[in-house]
Amino acid sequence: MGKVVVALAAGCAVAACVVASMMVERSVRRRRAWRRVVRLLEELEEGCATPVGRLRQVVDAMAVEMHAGLASEGGSKLKMLLTYVHKLPTGKERGTYYALHLGGTNSRVLRVQLGGQRSTIIGRDLDRQPIPQNLMTSTSEELFDFVATLLKDFVEREEKGSITTQQESRELGFTFSFPVKQTSSSSGNLIKWTKGFSVEDMVGRDVSECLQQAISRKGLDMRVAVLVNDTVGTLALGHYDDEDTVAAVIFGTGTNACYLERADAIIKCQGLLTTSGGMVVNMEWGNFWSSHLPRTSYDIDLDADSPNPNDQGFEKMISGMYLGDIVRRVILQMSQESDVFGPVSSKLHVPFILRTHLMAAMHEDDSPNLTEVARVLKDTLEIPDVPFSVRRLVVNICDVVTRRAARLAAAGIVGILKKIGRDGSGGIAGGKTKVGSKNKMMRRTVVAVEGGLYTDYTMFREYLNEAMEEILGEDVAPYVVIKMTKDGSGIGAALLAASHSASSTG
Ligand code: GLC
Repeated sequence: MGKVVVALAAGCAVAACVVASMMVERSVRRRRAWRRVVRLLEELEEGCATPVGRLRQVVDAMAVEMHAGLASEGGSKLKMLLTYVHKLPTGKERGTYYALHLGGTNSRVLRVQLGGQRSTIIGRDLDRQPIPQNLMTSTSEELFDFVATLLKDFVEREEKGSITTQQESRELGFTFSFPVKQTSSSSGNLIKWTKGFSVEDMVGRDVSECLQQAISRKGLDMRVAVLVNDTVGTLALGHYDDEDTVAAVIFGTGTNACYLERADAIIKCQGLLTTSGGMVVNMEWGNFWSSHLPRTSYDIDLDADSPNPNDQGFEKMISGMYLGDIVRRVILQMSQESDVFGPVSSKLHVPFILRTHLMAAMHEDDSPNLTEVARVLKDTLEIPDVPFSVRRLVVNICDVVTRRAARLAAAGIVGILKKIGRDGSGGIAGGKTKVGSKNKMMRRTVVAVEGGLYTDYTMFREYLNEAMEEILGEDVAPYVVIKMTKDGSGIGAALLAASHSASSTG
């Protein structure tokens, strides 16, 4: 009996030792795994660092590249495309105009009625439709038939029951959010696709003509009066609302900027004769590149896996199409190197599965247990039951990626201001600022901004505004106003159709 008790006791002791050593081993493993992910997070932070000194280098590089892009075709990765838009709407325009916007994710149709008094858009109606995924890689005819049908349905709905007889053809402002080499303010050829589009038979073709043909196929009486980039539409509405607006930036699926360039800069650089005060230049800044941009292995992989490698480098670090995918790649790496996310979920291998609005929802989750983070991880990435510390880690990843994006975006904006002598320092072109009298010479300068990344992602917006102040300094920053416009890319195109129209009194 005594022997049995001793044997049992010995057995229990061994079992307890085994359990204890397993627990120790598990906790050592857990600690090691945790150390690995912390190291990966630190590496990410280092790789994405944007101290103000580096941002200033990006500012300078942007201004230099703008000069180079204006000086000669192919002189820079910045295309600096001339738009032939010399005059921005003044507010005197009258009449009813339509606009169609073919963007990265949605297509929008709208109609504005202009009353001829400043800021009196007396009516605006809008219809928004997501662009079906299959059309992004189909044929030009299918893509343009889709938008022309939207347009026709919208016109019929808008004009139903209207007793006014259509005297003249309806006028349309067409916003096409891709790089176009304009041949006039109403025509231009597609240079290349961006943002995941790839309708091969369109490249090199006249975009307005394709739309005009589709409109005719639908039997609609409508003339494409202007063809603009979304940045240009945004600048037009921004300027209509506030004459101090000199540039416009889009932070949406893609990112880009345009600004008002002095006529002499354009004449000097491109031998183009202009009679009026300047011209809007579509920078296509999504393709900007500089060795000062903080690039990580995740960016390199994202670029290599994309349909347009070595292209749109700035866009791939900043815009809504890509931010969520950078975060997915970081989580995948951490999951492969440790078990803090449990077994590696197959969803982590699916490109673009983590959309940027979901990333924003995780980043801005203010619930005490980070329940939104847990929900997105579970529903979208099929990673269930992660502890609080891992949820917190995910928030940190989102923070690092968005902070870098917003701060680089701010540096880009200041780069434009520098080029046009509105950054308070005189700019490399020689500014009007006298040393020691910075404030007196600095004029109020408005930059119109549009796109969901800025309007709907508070942290992105706050980081951008904070970086603007840091770069410009507290004396100059108050003169620079970042103003959100809503649907400016579309409304602005309608305004430009009006200001370019013979029938408008503007
Ligand atoms: C992409 C397009 C550009 C557009 C921007 C924002 O960068 O190339 O034309 O303005 O997205 O939509």
